[in-house]
Amino acid sequence: MEEKLQLLEETATCEVEKAADLEELENLRVKYLGKSGEVTEILQNIGDLPPKQRPVVGKLGNKLKSKLESAIAEKKDELKKVAKEKRLKEEEIDVTLAGKRDDLGSKHPLTQVIDEISEIFLGLGFRIVEGPEVEKDYYNFEALNIPKAHPARDMQDSFYISEDILLRTHTSPVQVRTMEETDVPVRIIAPGRVYRVDEVDANHSPVFHQVEGLMIDKNISFSNLKGILIKVVKELFGEDREVRFRPSYFPFTEPSAEVDVSCALCGGEGCSTCSDTGWLEILGSGMVHPRVLEMSGLDPQKVSGFAFGMGIERIAILKYGITDIRRFYENDMRFLQQF
Ligand code: DAH
Repeated sequence: MEEKLQLLEETATCEVEKAADLEELENLRVKYLGKSGEVTEILQNIGDLPPKQRPVVGKLGNKLKSKLESAIAEKKDELKKVAKEKRLKEEEIDVTLAGKRDDLGSKHPLTQVIDEISEIFLGLGFRIVEGPEVEKDYYNFEALNIPKAHPARDMQDSFYISEDILLRTHTSPVQVRTMEETDVPVRIIAPGRVYRVDEVDANHSPVFHQVEGLMIDKNISFSNLKGILIKVVKELFGEDREVRFRPSYFPFTEPSAEVDVSCALCGGEGCSTCSDTGWLEILGSGMVHPRVLEMSGLDPQKVSGFAFGMGIERIAILKYGITDIRRFYENDMRFLQQF
């Protein structure tokens, strides 16, 4: 019996040592130490042995049992380590491989122009305000000296929600709202979306964008208007561009002027872009009409001011040489990625 135990110890330790993986090791544990394992059975059947052998076999059997237990535990640790290393190797990520790239978005060219204009005016001490796109007829027309039957309404037909409420046709109503709400001095710009009944073509869109501007204080004169607008146009288009003021008419300003910038393509010589004039129209402006001041609760004897309005699409088209206004609204990545 002692010899049998000796032999068992040799084979068992040898097999444990050679176990190639955790599964094989577990099978060996069951084979020797399991419920009906070889070592377990010897220990269980000690009672059948002659009394003299019992203590010897019992001692040797228990020794073998604990020896195998620790051998198996040790081997288990070793195999676990090997398995972990193998798994890590398999799951290794090559960080030097080219990855999948997410396309980074960018600001829409119209937003870029609005931001640029806003920066310039913030630098000049102007505030940025906003007004509603669904506007009262009173603010859109009436308070801007455009009464019901005025012919100027023809050029700005709109989408009416009711007789008195419409989608604003320009950002000028924000002038009136600001004058009603804030004390003089006023220095604001108001960028935003405007609406008109227009057929869509390369130059027209029923929805487009404007930036309104308003400056009111004591003793504001046409020189202030010129000074500010020349500065802004040059910042926007470049110091080398010429700026021209052309007499014009708007019901809410008197006198009124349209502002042109010299054509960059021909340098003022005249070409197809500027319709052979050498100039490109970029905004409307003027001294706020005394009636408009009055209607908004200001005293034209005490304060004066100037206003202007420019089309954002128009500025972007001229700045970037875009030939069709529809490009702005199509969300074609090939177009948008250029800015
Ligand atoms: N609201 C005018 C338009 O949409 C543009 C304009 C002209 C605005 C003169 C002004 C201004 O503030 O003074 O055609």
